[in-house]
Amino acid sequence: MKEIFRHDTPVNYEVVTRKVKEMGLASVGKASIREIKRLVDNIERETGDRFVRMEMGIPGMAPSEIGTNAEIEALRKGVAAIYPDIDGTPELKNEISKFVKNFLDIEVKPEACIPTVGSMQGSFAAFLTLSRMSPERDTTLFIDPGFPVHKQQHRVLGQKFESFDVYDYRGDKLRDKLESYFSKGNIHSVLYSNPNNPSWICFTDEELKTIGELANKYNVVICEDLAYFGMDFRKDYSRPGVPPYQPTVAKYTNNYILFISSSKVFSYAGQRIGMMVISNDLFGRKVEGLRKYYNVDIFGRAMIFGTVYALSSGTAHSAQYALAAMLKAANDGSFNFIDEVKIYGEKAHAMKKMFTDNGFHIVYDTDVDKPIADGFYFTIAYPGYSGEQLIEELIYYGISAISLAITGSEHLEGLRACVSLVHPDQFPALEARLKKFHEHNS
Ligand SMILES: Cc1ncc(COP(=O)(O)O)c(C=O)c1O
Repeated sequence: MKEIFRHDTPVNYEVVTRKVKEMGLASVGKASIREIKRLVDNIERETGDRFVRMEMGIPGMAPSEIGTNAEIEALRKGVAAIYPDIDGTPELKNEISKFVKNFLDIEVKPEACIPTVGSMQGSFAAFLTLSRMSPERDTTLFIDPGFPVHKQQHRVLGQKFESFDVYDYRGDKLRDKLESYFSKGNIHSVLYSNPNNPSWICFTDEELKTIGELANKYNVVICEDLAYFGMDFRKDYSRPGVPPYQPTVAKYTNNYILFISSSKVFSYAGQRIGMMVISNDLFGRKVEGLRKYYNVDIFGRAMIFGTVYALSSGTAHSAQYALAAMLKAANDGSFNFIDEVKIYGEKAHAMKKMFTDNGFHIVYDTDVDKPIADGFYFTIAYPGYSGEQLIEELIYYGISAISLAITGSEHLEGLRACVSLVHPDQFPALEARLKKFHEHNS
C-alpha cells in the first residue's frame, strides 16, 4: 500500500499490520479459510470495526423448525440411547429416495440412499471405497476449481488425484479434456460440485451429458457434489415432481454417486448430516477388487457394512429425524426449501454490482454463453493484483475473502467471496470501502 494512504484505511493500519504479524503467517493471501477467520476475529476485537466477512461458507440463516422440532421430539422419545442402523432409518431412506425422484427426476431405491455425517463423510467414504475397486485405477480426477477439503481427504488417505481448471474447457471443449485423462486408465472417479464452490459456475445439460457419456465409455464413477442443491436461482427447481429439475449427471449415466448436503440448502450444517445417493446399478455392482478389503464384493454393501461402519457406524440418530421431516415436507410441497435460501442470490446480485462498479471484475463470469448465476459465492479480481496481494490489501479495508489459489483454480488473481454472512445492513459500508480502495488504486 502506498505510504500516503496508510492513515486513510477504513480499518486502523497499525492494528492490522500488528495482528498479521502476531498470527505469524508467512502470507495472509496463502492463509487457510480458518486462519483468515481467526485474523479477522482478532482485528475486529481490537478495533471494534465490523468486517464485511466473505471468507467462510457458513449458512447465514436459521434452520427450519420442521427439522429442529422433529429432532427435539425424537430426542425426547429417547433415540439418543439407540444405535441407528448404519445405512439410516427406513423413514429417512424413503424420503431421500422420494426427494431425488421429485427434484432430480431420477429413480433410486431407498436401499441406495444413505445418510452420512455431513456430505464430507460421504465423499470420504466414497473415495475410500472407489479407490479399492481396482489396483490400476488409483486416482481421482477433480474438475476444479473446487472445495479444498476434498483434496485434504485425499492427502490424509494417502490417495492420488489429478485436477484441471475447467475455465478454459467449458461446453464442447470438455469432452476432449476429460477423455485425455480417462483414456490413461488410472482414473476411478471424478468429483465436481454443481453449482460450483468457489466459482458458482453451473454445468449445462450438454456438459453433464458429455460427462455421463464418458463415464459410460470409460467406466469411471462420477461423484456429483450437490452441496448447493437447487440454488441456481435462474430456474425454479423448487416444485416437487414438476420440471425443471436440478440438472444432474444421473440423467446420463448409471455410474454415479450424488452427495446432497443439508448444510446450505436446509441451513442444517451444525448437525452434520448429508445424503449419499448411489445409483441402483453401482450399488448392486459386483466388483472383484473389493474382496481384498471387504467381506463382500457388492459395491453398496462394501460401502455400508465396510466403509461407513468403520468410519462412524452411521449418522446421529436424532439428526436423521430432522432431515426426514424436512424432506417429507419438501416432498409433499408444504416446505419450499429453495425459497428460504433465495436471499443469497439477491445479496450476490447487489454485492457483485458494488465490486464491478469499483474496478473489480468477475473472474468466472459465464456458463458457456450465459452470465453466471447469482448465488452463494462469486469470484472477483482487481487489475494489477494477485489474489494473494488483494486479500492482504482488502483486510485494511475491512473486507475478508479467500484466494482462489487454494481451490485448484488457475486464476491466481482471483478471490472467492461468500455472501452468506454479509448482512444487507452492511452494504453501505461495503460500498464505501470498495470506493475508497478503488480511489487509492486509481
Ligand atoms: C462443495 C462442497 N461440498 C461439500 C461441503 C460440505 O458439506 P457438509 O457440510 O454437508 O459436510 C461443502 C461445504 O461448504 C461444499 O462447499
